[in-house]
Amino acid sequence: MRRDIRPRIDSGLCTRCGACVEICASELLVMGEDGPEATGRGPCFFCGHCVAVCPENAVQLPDTTPSQFKDLLHPEQAAGVDSVWDLLRRRRSVRRYRDEALPEDIIRRIITAGTLAPSALNEQAWHFTVLSDPERLLRIRRRIVAIFRSLLKMLEGRVNRMMLRVMLGSETADMLMEMQPMVERLVEAYDEQQDCILWDAPTLIVVHSAGDDTAVIESSHYAVGNMMMMATAMGLGTCLVGFVTEAAERDSRLKEYLKVPPDHSVDASLVIGYPAVEFLRSTHRMDPPVEFD
Ligand SMILES: Cc1cc2nc3c(=O)[nH]c(=O)nc-3n(C[C@H](O)[C@H](O)[C@H](O)COP(=O)(O)O)c2cc1C
Ligand code: SF4
Ligand code: SF4
Repeated sequence: MRRDIRPRIDSGLCTRCGACVEICASELLVMGEDGPEATGRGPCFFCGHCVAVCPENAVQLPDTTPSQFKDLLHPEQAAGVDSVWDLLRRRRSVRRYRDEALPEDIIRRIITAGTLAPSALNEQAWHFTVLSDPERLLRIRRRIVAIFRSLLKMLEGRVNRMMLRVMLGSETADMLMEMQPMVERLVEAYDEQQDCILWDAPTLIVVHSAGDDTAVIESSHYAVGNMMMMATAMGLGTCLVGFVTEAAERDSRLKEYLKVPPDHSVDASLVIGYPAVEFLRSTHRMDPPVEFD
């Protein structure tokens, strides 16, 4: 957290409406005799809400520029509920891509959309690694298949399975056994020159963060949610690749191939590209278990 941040108020512009004071959840901004001042309880958690609500543009937050605070569309011009429903329904895990590279500016826009997500303590501690070199992507797939092959070896025979239970605990061992048919299928597909891991997508984006703070990891997931929605709005397809995320956490060589520093946790991985498939309708969802008090 940036504890020493204090917004500056332009007293020439300020009309003392009090909106910035009211919005400041940390109670750092208080109304003084000459207008708002940053002398309250604090600390500032750099949320930028005081700038975002000031009708006179009189608040300046250190370490930010005015251009970072974008004017919002009038609610009547903004996406209506129906468009949002459609966007949410339109997003699919795309597993067929056109053989076409994504321009860097498009990828940057999608990542910027990711950074508009909420993050714990507004830390924005996410990192994004964009991998598009076909050689590297092939190396990543090859490494994952090698990991899968050794996993399948460990699952061979009763004795191995029993040892696995002792070594990993029965919950993890059961999970691995449940995954066995899928892992076998992925290895088989690889041997048949099919890519059922990265789905022949032109780009893989890895979201990672320093350490293993669960709140930071959770924040990365929200960023990925935004990225998937923005990609969908731009006519692109995405697919999360849990295999990459999971395997990278356990295999330092794969982490190196993903260009993720050793002391970072791999929070999410998603492939992205131009879809080679058009969905005509949304997919089914089960009724969620919901309880109200
Ligand atoms: C954490 C997580 C990991 C996933 N890992 C993979 C994966 O490794 N490969 C894949 O093809 N899809 C993966 N998916 C996509 C899911 O299979 C997909 O979201 C689900 O089947 C629903 O389909 P939809 O995304 O088209 O609605 C993953 C999804 C999540 C949330
Ligand atoms: S940035 Fe947020 S916490 Fe900091 S002074 Fe403004 S409203 Fe308060
Ligand atoms: S929101 Fe702007 S105009 Fe209103 S009190 Fe704060 S600085 Fe002054």
